[in-house]
Amino acid sequence: MKNVVCVNLGDACAGIEDHLREQGWNAWHATDLPEAQRLLAQASAQVGVLLLGHLAASRLTAVQQLLRSSPEVEWVGVFTPQALDSAVLRQLALDCLFDYHTLPVDWRVLDLTLGHAFRRSRLRERQEVSPEVINSMGMVGSSAAIAQLRQQIRKVTQSEAPVLIGGESGTGKELAARAIHQGSARASGPFVAVNCGAISPSLIHTELFGHERGSFTGATAGKQGLIESANGGTLFLDEITDLPLELQTNLLRFLQERTIHRVGSTRSLEVNARVIAASHVELSQAVAAGRFREDLFYRLNVLPITVPSLRERLADVPMLAQHFLQCCRADRHRRPVQGFSRQAIASLMSHDWPGNVRELFNRVQRAVVMTDQRFITPCDLGFSVKDPSTGPALDEVRTLAERNAISLTLGRVDRNITHAARELGISRMTLYRLMDKHGLAHQMQ
Ligand SMILES: Nc1ncnc2c1ncn2[C@@H]1O[C@H](COP(=O)(O)OP(=O)(O)OP(=O)(O)O)[C@@H](O)[C@H]1O
Ligand SMILES: [Mg+2]
Repeated sequence: MKNVVCVNLGDACAGIEDHLREQGWNAWHATDLPEAQRLLAQASAQVGVLLLGHLAASRLTAVQQLLRSSPEVEWVGVFTPQALDSAVLRQLALDCLFDYHTLPVDWRVLDLTLGHAFRRSRLRERQEVSPEVINSMGMVGSSAAIAQLRQQIRKVTQSEAPVLIGGESGTGKELAARAIHQGSARASGPFVAVNCGAISPSLIHTELFGHERGSFTGATAGKQGLIESANGGTLFLDEITDLPLELQTNLLRFLQERTIHRVGSTRSLEVNARVIAASHVELSQAVAAGRFREDLFYRLNVLPITVPSLRERLADVPMLAQHFLQCCRADRHRRPVQGFSRQAIASLMSHDWPGNVRELFNRVQRAVVMTDQRFITPCDLGFSVKDPSTGPALDEVRTLAERNAISLTLGRVDRNITHAARELGISRMTLYRLMDKHGLAHQMQ
């Protein structure tokens, strides 16, 4: 459906709505800025037409705010020829408009322009996260923190020594472990993930080390354990602090001697598996509390890596949200969701993310199921809707959007300033200034 909002602030072009309806547009009409704002929130317009006579400099900011607060809309101006004598209006046209026309309107040309604007808006809706950013180790993100993580992962893939991955719950520790395995010489071997906290203490010994036939009641056949099944590949021990103390001793022996004993066997079996361990609690604290063997801690902590919390890489939130939206959309057959509303992005950016990336994924998944709109709202994401007067100020939203656009573009063009500036439509000097303002300059190192 082609939706257009006409904001007529100058009574400049009577009959335009009727003409647009004849051309197959769903046309809405506002004669002042508050009404325009309300329509934009409701109408899911792809295109806006701004009809202006003379624009006083004092009103420029309000009009600019309206246009910038609707980034999903392509705006086309219709002005009197005299209006363009004003430097203020020329600046507005350069900053915020897809194109402009002067009166009297040539309807054929205007129809063509609106068609182009519509197609451009559709193109932007379909814009997807660049595959290089996604495919870089399966980790989405272009923040300095994730770039540093990728660099650490690259280094440890060259080694065979144990890796200890720290980081809060849901940050992507398992993803990092998989990336290490995939990047290593063992990539063609198995990757065996074991959640030490999820296996009952009575079973964990036989699960990890396997058992021989007859070793306990009901053991009618011998069975390979998880460690053995990782032979030739990588053994990922998640939530390692949940491993009972007596098994910590067995694991230490395996790390030192590279051999294991199945339960009920005296025969030692050689196993060639690289060990990666992870924990969301500080292992050193578990050692201090007497819950974890100190010698095992040192054996595991040869190559420590910490996966940053989502809070520390907020710049990645829009890209991750977009990525998860694409994943969830793929298995949804209802009316397609096009993206996130401006308010939704603002609410994602102001959240504290205690559950990190997993929480973000869950919220997007929920929103895709729950929403009835083309653009996901804060409410769909499970955020309580605030009184608009206490919501994020437009300036705040704009600053965040600016920061994200720059951060995303830099990631996409591999930090090439010339390319990024060209893509953003600004000069290199302006880009340097904005990077400085948003604390993105360190991304260049
Ligand atoms: N950078 C990322 N890009 C894309 N998806 C990610 C990223 N980081 C994490 N995820 C996704 O978030 C979810 C949680 O990641 P993962 O299971 O690796 O976290 P974890 O740190 O092991 O969590 P826990 O401590 O709860 O075990 C997974 O669905 C994972 O695919
Ligand atoms: Mg995990």
